[in-house]
Formats: sequence, structure tokens, C-alpha cells
Amino acid sequence: MSANKVTAAEIRGMKGRRRVAALTAYDFPMTKILDAAGIPLILVGDSLGMVVLGHPDTTHVTVADMEHHIRAAARARPHALLAADMPYRSYESAVEAVQTAHRLIAAGAEAVKAEGGRSILPQARAILASGIPFLGHLGMLPQSVLEEKGYHVKGKTEAERRGLLADAEALAGAGAFAIVLELVAPPVAREITQSIPIPTIGIGAGRDCDGEILVVTDLLGTSPGEIPRHVKKNWRLAEQMGAAVVEWRRSVEE
Ligand code: KIV
Repeated sequence: MSANKVTAAEIRGMKGRRRVAALTAYDFPMTKILDAAGIPLILVGDSLGMVVLGHPDTTHVTVADMEHHIRAAARARPHALLAADMPYRSYESAVEAVQTAHRLIAAGAEAVKAEGGRSILPQARAILASGIPFLGHLGMLPQSVLEEKGYHVKGKTEAERRGLLADAEALAGAGAFAIVLELVAPPVAREITQSIPIPTIGIGAGRDCDGEILVVTDLLGTSPGEIPRHVKKNWRLAEQMGAAVVEWRRSVEE
């Protein structure tokens, strides 16, 4: 990796050489902390909807919400590559996808992520053709949580396994620099990782991907809702934050 700015090409080139440790951030101070800790890929994720904005899922996040938080994160001027999620229904066609991607880039993102494989290939190709680095996202797709009635592991059936492999190959062939694999059955995540030339970045997909990504508030124990099973609950900073506030309140009231 260069001493200066991390590029999408550098993340792609980490395949087989160095595991990718990626985290989400939604604002200026957290982006500063992750960057100082050496995280090479920071995602302004649409998990924003749940962990910052108080929505039940990601389907409520708008392009304007994303722009606001990308601007805050970008003000940290991270060494890391700053990627951002294309929110729900903001990439229904290739034309709309390019428009949305350009808005996110204008706000300060350096790459965009969208959910889906062959079903969004025209959108991914159009984004890449307009010069914007593209990060794929396969497996459990949080923007489909309502249709799918929950967050379910993918790749458990032969049809799902084949579909995921075909999707991953299609995204890699189109020029994506990496693919997030969310809640993919670990043997299938391993198979995808071995079959494509770009890094797979797992979340709840076992240890055999080329890297891992987490929602930063899940890692730190400050997420307001339930923390997913794949997260080791080593850090409970919400408890420490609450204790600090109680101590201060008592000092004022005494
Ligand atoms: O929005 C998000 O946080 C994500 C995860 C995969 C990290 O997309």
C-alpha cells in the first residue's frame, strides 16, 4: 500500500497478499479514529439508518441522508479509501445509478457499493464506465429485508450456491474492485473467494474470505439494537459511556 491515499486498485491488489480489515463510519470523529488505526477501507454504510438515524432497517435511508454523512466523514480526509452505500431504490436503472453515484462522489465518497449481482449488472457497468470504483455486495441484502422477512444466511441450497458464484463472477468480470459477502454460508464464501480474482470481504461469512467488514458500532458495543451473532462482544462501550454520564450527573447534583 502506498504511503499516501489508498485507492480501489490497492484494495483489489491486496488479494492473496494482505487481509482487508474494513469498518463503517458515519461521521468526522469516527472516520478520524478508524483512519488513525490503519483501516484501509472505510464504508459510509446505509446501516446508518439503524445505528445513527433510529430507523428499523436500511430501506428508510435517502440519498440526501447519505450525502450528509459522507460529507462529514470526508472532512476527516482519510488515508483510507472512503466508500459509500447507494441507498434503497436509488439505482433502479443504469441512468439513475450513475446519477446517484455521482451525487455520492460529489459529497466526498471515492467508491460506491450497491446490493445485488447479475440483477444490477447494467447499473454496475454504467457506474464503472463513468469512472467510479464499484464495490459489490452479495448474500443477504439488507435492502431486501422486508421482502425476505428477515436476515437469512444465503448459499444453503445448491441453487443459491450456483447463483452466488455466478453473481460474484459477473461483478468481478464487470470490474468491481472487491465484493462484500454478507451472511453467506462459510463453505460457499470460501468457494467464491477461491474462484474470483478480487477480494471478498465477509460479514458473518466465516474466516475464509479475503477480509472482513463490521458495522463499527457493533464492534464497539454502541449499536442501539441487538448486536448480530457473528460479532464478538468484547467491547461494551455503551456501558462505559452511560457510566461516565451518570458519574458526571451525580457530580453536578451533589
Ligand atoms: O451498511 C452497511 O453497514 C453494510 C455492511 C455490509 C457493513 O453494508
